[in-house]
Amino acid sequence: MTTAVKGPTDDIAEVLLDAATIQRRVRELGAQIAADYVGRDLVLVSILKGALPFLADLMREVPIYCSLDFLEVSSYGAGTSSSGVVRILKDLAKPIEGRNVLVVEDILDTGHTLSYVIEHLRGQHPESLGLCALLDKPARRVVPITVDYKGFEIEDKFVVGYGLDFAERYRNLPFIGVLKPEVYTALA
Ligand code: IMP
Ligand code: MG
Repeated sequence: MTTAVKGPTDDIAEVLLDAATIQRRVRELGAQIAADYVGRDLVLVSILKGALPFLADLMREVPIYCSLDFLEVSSYGAGTSSSGVVRILKDLAKPIEGRNVLVVEDILDTGHTLSYVIEHLRGQHPESLGLCALLDKPARRVVPITVDYKGFEIEDKFVVGYGLDFAERYRNLPFIGVLKPEVYTALA
């Protein structure tokens, strides 16, 4: 007899963006980025860990010369909201001075994380500094930020999957969804 083992999909109440919808939009964003940056020295700077699946899919839709680098940041604060105190856990491996940097991020929420990252990168004098975010929750914005390439605007709901976590789980889901309410109490 086999017993069904519960997995991350069982904790999902609602799928907001399925894998095919994400893939279609990522393809469009990639085409736009490729057209805008062709012939320029492009570095995709991705923010670990949440933007990893997005970067992996997006870069394969950007058929021009480019390189990759990574930043890892932590936003202090427990639960489902960042506190505004941002810390760099891992910095870029190579200088970006004089290069065209496109920051690839999973989600723009309050804007604290990205505004910190943008200031940090601007201090290193890139030729240009653009921003690509898969998701945007405009209702939550505290710090004003302009996104150059945006995947989807979503309502004010905490989402998981396709890189996004709750308590470090659910990043491996191929879609973006909302957790069942009881999961927050179980993992809190
Ligand atoms: P911000 O600093 O408030 O803009 O938050 C940005 C970071 O908070 C993102 O890089 C995510 O790691 C995390 N975050 C914000 N909203 C969500 C969400 O709905 N699900 C999962 N993580 C989120
Ligand atoms: Mg996170």
